Amino acid sequence: MTATIVPLLERPDLAEQVAAWGFAEWGHLNPGETLAQRVIRIRGKMNTDRVPVAFVALGADGGIVGTASLIFDDLEGDPRNPWLASVYVPSEYRKKGIASALVRAVEEAARRLGYSRLYLFTSTAPDLYAGLGWRPLERQDYRGEHIQVMDRTL
Ligand SMILES: CC(C)(COP(=O)(O)OP(=O)(O)OC[C@H]1O[C@@H](n2cnc3c(N)ncnc32)[C@H](O)[C@@H]1OP(=O)(O)O)[C@@H](O)C(=O)NCCC(=O)NCCS
Repeated sequence: MTATIVPLLERPDLAEQVAAWGFAEWGHLNPGETLAQRVIRIRGKMNTDRVPVAFVALGADGGIVGTASLIFDDLEGDPRNPWLASVYVPSEYRKKGIASALVRAVEEAARRLGYSRLYLFTSTAPDLYAGLGWRPLERQDYRGEHIQVMDRTL
């Protein structure tokens, strides 16, 4: 399946869906944040010329089939930046290369905005990123999860 990756800025109607996925998947990492607050935060990522930038993957019918973001800070207290974050593809669209295309779009955006290195952390999919050329850095315990920090030279 070929998905088209566009900035959320081009499809503001999809902000609620992006927020709902993130709320269900990573709500525990932002304790106290409501879904309504998350929608507002996602709308703040509707940029193309500065960080943060949210992307959506669109199927042939224009429906949303995934999302990923370029953000400045992710791990609280960590001075490194920027970060690839919130990579999500719903289960029915997985294993078709959509996450890979989203990761490439975020890398390209970071490069275009002048960054030469990008970071991420993951507790679920280090192999996905390793396969895309990301390098494992340290492991940490963060808010109840064992996470792997990774980086990529752009
Ligand atoms: C992880 C996730 C984004 C992958 O999306 P996807 O669209 O299926 O990924 P892709 O199809 O681009 O997969 C690329 C490669 O990584 C592999 N891969 C995908 N998910 C993987 C996982 N969880 N663990 C190990 N490998 C994985 C695929 O098999 C594929 O390998 P291949 O190129 O050798 O065939 C998706 O499963 C998801 O949204 N999961 C829930 C949220 C999540 O964990 N997000 C990541 C947070 S860091």
